[in-house]
Amino acid sequence: MMADRPTFERLKAMVPTISVGILTADLMRLGQELSELEGTGVDILHFDVMDGCFCPMMTVGPPFIRAVEVGNRLKDVHLMVSQPLEKVADCIAAGADLVTVHVERHEHIHRTLQNLRGLARAAGRDVVRGVALNPGTPVEVLEPLIEEIEMVTVLGVNPGWGGQSLIPSTPRRLIRVKELIEKRGRDALVCVDGGITRKNIAEVATWGADLAVTGSAVFDGKNPRENARFMLNSFRPS
Ligand code: DX5
Ligand code: ZN
Repeated sequence: MMADRPTFERLKAMVPTISVGILTADLMRLGQELSELEGTGVDILHFDVMDGCFCPMMTVGPPFIRAVEVGNRLKDVHLMVSQPLEKVADCIAAGADLVTVHVERHEHIHRTLQNLRGLARAAGRDVVRGVALNPGTPVEVLEPLIEEIEMVTVLGVNPGWGGQSLIPSTPRRLIRVKELIEKRGRDALVCVDGGITRKNIAEVATWGADLAVTGSAVFDGKNPRENARFMLNSFRPS
């Protein structure tokens, strides 16, 4: 029998693991950069979509997400945009397996999550629905959304760009998110995104997140294959 939630079940079987932020790669050589990650055990690629309104930087959108060939790896789309409701259909059509929207766009966040599920089902797909919390957002905002999500991402930095320093309140916030999920008896994963480096990943691994998003620590212009192996092995000690 086919699992009801094949993507979610596949993701759950992978954790703890890392999702690699590809926009810190050399985009002129993206195909080569991604082929460097083959055989490292990295099975999730993270796309940071920024619209220049929700956060300062502008990056890429659905045509780029669609164009990037990831093989059997999962496309993890992090929407840092002002109007996520209007964008989720295009992300699903572009092949997103995970779609994360920010709770700060809360006027229609619940509807956005409902739409995500409906659109994925209509397309005959299972898309993991995530919500992300900026460092300044109270964790309690998750309360009314918890039935509509499979993943919560705690941002370790303010959204904007790669290579920022991890904000010290991040582990505290992550633990509170985990407590809230547990209290409500939900089957949802937790993710930490931003500010994770070679130096701090062993400590981050002790916080109990299922997923860690890492960009500039992997794509540093030197050896992404070795970096990816190091980050993965540090987060998921064998
Ligand atoms: C923050 C993004 C992160 C970040 C990852 O705006 O959501 O995904 O760029 O990059 P590093 O690992 O360099 O912080
Ligand atoms: Zn991200």
